[in-house]
Amino acid sequence: MDAFDAIATKLETRQFDKKEVSRDVKRKVLEAARLTGSSNNTQHWRFILLEDAKSINCLAEDATTGPWVKGANFAVLILANPQVNGYMIDVGRALQDMQLTAWNLGIGSGIFTGFNQDKLRQDFAIPQNLVPAAALGFGYPAVKKSGKKKKRNPLNQIAYSEKFGQALAL
Ligand SMILES: Cc1cc2nc3c(=O)[nH]c(=O)nc-3n(C[C@H](O)[C@H](O)[C@H](O)COP(=O)(O)O)c2cc1C
Repeated sequence: MDAFDAIATKLETRQFDKKEVSRDVKRKVLEAARLTGSSNNTQHWRFILLEDAKSINCLAEDATTGPWVKGANFAVLILANPQVNGYMIDVGRALQDMQLTAWNLGIGSGIFTGFNQDKLRQDFAIPQNLVPAAALGFGYPAVKKSGKKKKRNPLNQIAYSEKFGQALAL
């Protein structure tokens, strides 16, 4: 799958199959995060891999907007340094690279950003200088989804030529 095909077909996955994901895939997903560029190459992010069912259940309990992560085969908790300018852009780039890398290997994933912060910090020993920015749940999709179902606005509604509001001629 080329990069555009991965972007065009990838949908959020929140229902996962029980099938085990290999360690090679998990490593590759984390490598994708590692290789992502960050603001001034600060690489302020940290990633916690959760494979143990107990840890994943704990993450699900600490989630306010992602209880579905309970069904994931593995999860990654993304921490970032809020002192770095644009730190959430860095987080977004890393997580998208992880999601697309996984998708290319047939693994679905979903993001969530709502946590019970105090509980999460305590449960996962998160240092004070970092914030839990997002979490991703990964696994083989329980239901095969296709990019054809993507609900997105048409290009001419969101992109312009030369100045705001001027129609694209593509
Ligand atoms: C910054 C951001 C925060 C998100 N937070 C959540 C979340 O807390 N819980 C959740 O289930 N999905 C979350 N999502 C996933 C979005 O709902 C999803 O990207 C959107 O619905 C498009 O899904 P699709 O690609 O499957 O069409 C988040 C996505 C982004 C980019």
